[in-house]
Amino acid sequence: MNKSDHLRSYWMPFTNNRAYKKNPKMFASAKGVYYQTPRGRMILDGTSGMWCCNAGHGRARIVEAIQTAAATLDFSPGFQLGHPAAFEAANRLLNIAPDGFEHVFFTNSGSESVDTALKMARAYQQRRGEPQRTVLIGRQRGYHGVGFGGISVGGIAPNQQIFGPLLPQTDHLCHTHDLTRNAFTKGLPEHGVEFADDLTRLIELHQNNTIAAVIVEPIAGSTGVLIPPKGYLQRLRKICDEHDILLIFDEVITGFGRLGAPFAADFFGVMPDIITLAKGLTSGAVPMGAVLVNDKIHNAFMTGPEHGIELMHGYTYSGHPLACAAMIATLQTYEKEDLFAQVNELSPYWEQALHSLSGLPHIIDIRNLGLIGAIELAPRRNAPGSRGQDAFDECFEHNLLIRVTGDTIALSPPFIITKEQIDKLIDRLRSVLKGLD
Ligand SMILES: Cc1ncc(COP(=O)(O)O)c(C=O)c1O
Repeated sequence: MNKSDHLRSYWMPFTNNRAYKKNPKMFASAKGVYYQTPRGRMILDGTSGMWCCNAGHGRARIVEAIQTAAATLDFSPGFQLGHPAAFEAANRLLNIAPDGFEHVFFTNSGSESVDTALKMARAYQQRRGEPQRTVLIGRQRGYHGVGFGGISVGGIAPNQQIFGPLLPQTDHLCHTHDLTRNAFTKGLPEHGVEFADDLTRLIELHQNNTIAAVIVEPIAGSTGVLIPPKGYLQRLRKICDEHDILLIFDEVITGFGRLGAPFAADFFGVMPDIITLAKGLTSGAVPMGAVLVNDKIHNAFMTGPEHGIELMHGYTYSGHPLACAAMIATLQTYEKEDLFAQVNELSPYWEQALHSLSGLPHIIDIRNLGLIGAIELAPRRNAPGSRGQDAFDECFEHNLLIRVTGDTIALSPPFIITKEQIDKLIDRLRSVLKGLD
């Protein structure tokens, strides 16, 4: 079997498979803030893997917890049966959840969390006697994973186009990205609170109280880090309240300290009704997702005869023992090392370092919040995305892992990164950007 044969079988996700297999990039191991390639090159992780390894890689406490769990209880059925770690994990998660969140439903990914939340929202509306409320509102440029629910409320055309028909009864708010007024903002953009009023347009359009829920990422990550304008999320909450619509925050990337607070809901002081989680929940070490709900929603289901199942929904691997062990150890790591405070400590340095790149060729915006950064490059004429792809390839050659969406570079390093390592990251990026045509 020659080299390319060996790579043929695996159909890789969200990957240009044919191009990749001609020039594969591989990781063999990871420790701290570095990946290592099979040939021993150390690649600085500027993206926490894929926004998930918030505590860094190969953390001993998490590794040991997974090893012990695997040797003790490999699997425990989750329907009508339980195991202690699942209950402990739920309790520990609620200890850091915003006030009012009293219940946790476990899934295995962000996509599953989103589809679970959307189903809960519709079912809740039925339960409380508003069965006409079936419309689910997302936002342009939103990413909510790849389930049919998630792509239907998501606002990324290429993720939808060839998979239709999508879920009926969905619609989209306008996005909040406004380079004309907000380019090169440090932190929250000044302009654009009025984008939230687009919800009133949709409420009028859909008439007769038919909207069940609105789902947004507090910060849209996958379409290039779109930071919400000042007051935007607060206004969205207010309009939802006025019209009795549920608000769902998809915190798959903002959850677990990325902004220095446990959740974006805490950071912005805006409480949704449902929060979807994954990624940082286990620091990426074992697949796991979760949905947090308040009492109001949970209790609407706790009616009827007790022998009846209250929510006809769940996954074989909901609350998997390895995932629960990883999650408990991850939450302990965040707490014992005070890693969310570490984000607050690093954020001003990060902001300054990132914005020091302004003025380099092709950069049309730099934005940041918490330990998140984005550098938007002007697209090449007739070849949008190609400059971003070149930046990704070149950074890899310069031993730096970045993420690109289109022509935007997204950065989200592990919370254990040091200021010296931030300097290194920015230096490598600077060299690449200087050389980019
Ligand atoms: C906001 C958001 N929601 C959902 C998802 C989907 O998560 P997963 O890939 O674990 O299904 C992602 C993944 O990046 C995300 O960023």
